[in-house]
Amino acid sequence: MKHLYIIGIGSGNPEHMTVQAINALNKVDVVFVPSKGEAKAKLADVRKDICTRYINAVGVKIIDYAVSSRDTFERSYTQSVDAWHAGIASTYEHLLIESIPDSGTAAFLVWGDPGLYDSTIRIIERVKQRGHVAFDYSVIPGITSIQALTASHRIPLNLVGKSVQITTGRRLAESFPGLADSAVVMLDGEQAFAKINDPDAYIYWGAYVGTSDEILIAGRLADVSNEIIATRAAARARHGWIMDIYLLRKGHDFEE
Ligand SMILES: C[S@@+](CC[C@H](N)C(=O)[O-])C[C@H]1O[C@@H](n2cnc3c(N)ncnc32)[C@H](O)[C@@H]1O
Repeated sequence: MKHLYIIGIGSGNPEHMTVQAINALNKVDVVFVPSKGEAKAKLADVRKDICTRYINAVGVKIIDYAVSSRDTFERSYTQSVDAWHAGIASTYEHLLIESIPDSGTAAFLVWGDPGLYDSTIRIIERVKQRGHVAFDYSVIPGITSIQALTASHRIPLNLVGKSVQITTGRRLAESFPGLADSAVVMLDGEQAFAKINDPDAYIYWGAYVGTSDEILIAGRLADVSNEIIATRAAARARHGWIMDIYLLRKGHDFEE
């Protein structure tokens, strides 16, 4: 039967690759690399660099494929994601049928960890449920952008004995500072931190974390909010795209 590895490659630094990830990469016949648009091209370069550095096995084929973007026209968020995933499932199905030899193996290289704000696993499950191609798959964990962020800022993720909320910009206001004293925010295109009005909140922000373009800013939210907005806008204009993440925190270790 065909076998697929869904490999977490870490968050931009090729040295995030684990030994398990490198070993899996050296078992495959084919590596699928998504490429489309300016950001995707840069991310595809990171994936190709990983292949060049770590694949020692001979004859491994690298296959580029185009990923469609989400169409939000006259649809709810859930409907548009569902339709988008259905389209990607068709692309994956085609790749699995056409590009993996019988009893062969292939890899998808997933940014960060495949379990965190990534839908590769659920889309591959969709392909399996459709039943047009027989295959099995394994998931190899990777270093998330959360780990990259806390390591770069040299901070623990949680306060002693306290919980952490992981959320998106769209949902930040629901949890911080009401429910969570630490909140990690990903996928924030609207700088939701700017709407948090709390004199005790701290922010640890990072863009392109773990890469040679990394930018870090930390401080009391009220003091650094405008600096982050300006830095983010300038970096986005310079690169043509941005990936950023932040941890908002209120309170201190050993406080009840
Ligand atoms: C679709 S999610 C993928 C998350 C990924 N699976 C992980 O484990 O981190 C994309 C979001 O992850 C965050 N992200 C991923 N890599 C990053 C990096 N190197 N620097 C800053 N943020 C990053 C950003 O918030 C971005 O919007």
